[in-house]
Amino acid sequence: MSPPRKRKASSPAPLIEPGRRESLRSRLLEGYDRQKRDLPWRRTRDPYAIWLSEVMLQQTQVSTVIPYWERFLQRFPTVEALAAAPLEDVLAGWRGLGYYSRARNLHRAAQEVVARFGGRLPSTAAELLTLPGFGRYTAGAVASIAFGEPAPLVDGNVARVLSRLFEVEGAPGDRAREARLWELATGLVHGERPGDFNQALMEHGATVCRPENPLCLLCPVREECLAYRHGRVEELPPAKVRAAPKRMTLAVAVWSHEGRLLLARRAEKGLFGGLWELPAAEVEDDTPDPASAAKLAEALGADVTVQGHLGTVRRQLTHRALSLRLLRVTGRKHPTHAPSFRELRWCTPDEASSLGMSTAMHKALEAALNAGALRE
Ligand code: ADE
Repeated sequence: MSPPRKRKASSPAPLIEPGRRESLRSRLLEGYDRQKRDLPWRRTRDPYAIWLSEVMLQQTQVSTVIPYWERFLQRFPTVEALAAAPLEDVLAGWRGLGYYSRARNLHRAAQEVVARFGGRLPSTAAELLTLPGFGRYTAGAVASIAFGEPAPLVDGNVARVLSRLFEVEGAPGDRAREARLWELATGLVHGERPGDFNQALMEHGATVCRPENPLCLLCPVREECLAYRHGRVEELPPAKVRAAPKRMTLAVAVWSHEGRLLLARRAEKGLFGGLWELPAAEVEDDTPDPASAAKLAEALGADVTVQGHLGTVRRQLTHRALSLRLLRVTGRKHPTHAPSFRELRWCTPDEASSLGMSTAMHKALEAALNAGALRE
């Protein structure tokens, strides 16, 4: 028997066997051409509009994103328009989408695109990565879809598809697994139509290679799929172990004066940074009213007393279980600026509703008004 042939040092084993690679690429692209969803950002070639869609789609479902994307583009039709807009208008346009750091970064990045690139988005993943809010995923998506660079991307859908096709072990977040997935995505994307190929991978994950009840019988790459061959589709990838959401209780000051309510704009950093709110301070679940009043007084730089309760609004975010405890408060002086906030304003209900506010705080405002916050 002849000894196994050794590979020469100069030709390492290909990451993906070339025949398999070409078969995967062509079948996924064909599937995409045949069945892709008609999404509005697939009808434009404007890099800014494509960038916006990718930022919105990062943590939000397609069906939710569509009307936001359309409205946002009407309001801020170009990079220049976005860069010139006040941050609070941008945050107001984002209300309901959550993860507001995306909007803050988008705004900062637009300003950098104007300052550093004359208003034109740079066309390579390497340059895009230098802008605020661009990670590997967004840079790969914009470079490939808007500019045709064969730049890879891995999002949750792609990670699942590749884990199954190549039987990649490890749970989401595992370093070696992530490195392997990026390596595979890089190996696959080189060739024609890199933007369509990346979208084909994502689309396949969203519509066929789904987390639950994957449609293996309809799958165009079933024969190439190691997990399918080995009966492991349901077990790959293993579910992410998520920490239980942290409970967070806020004492919320409902302070009315002559038909107006006190609103505050948060500092730029941290949860809900830059957004407006009924002034709030974090407390413990069992903090008594006088201690909550002291916290609010410190944040507002004005003495505050609690007159009563207007209910509690609860809201579940991905990592937080929020309780907003609405306290009707008053004080001798009516502050117009405060140490812990960027800005204070006394607003009519209409003015208050039009400010950039989180959905949780918007619900709190509504609840406070319904509970008679303005009745003196
Ligand atoms: N998810 C995020 N971006 C996407 C895109 N361009 N196509 C399909 N799914 C996506």
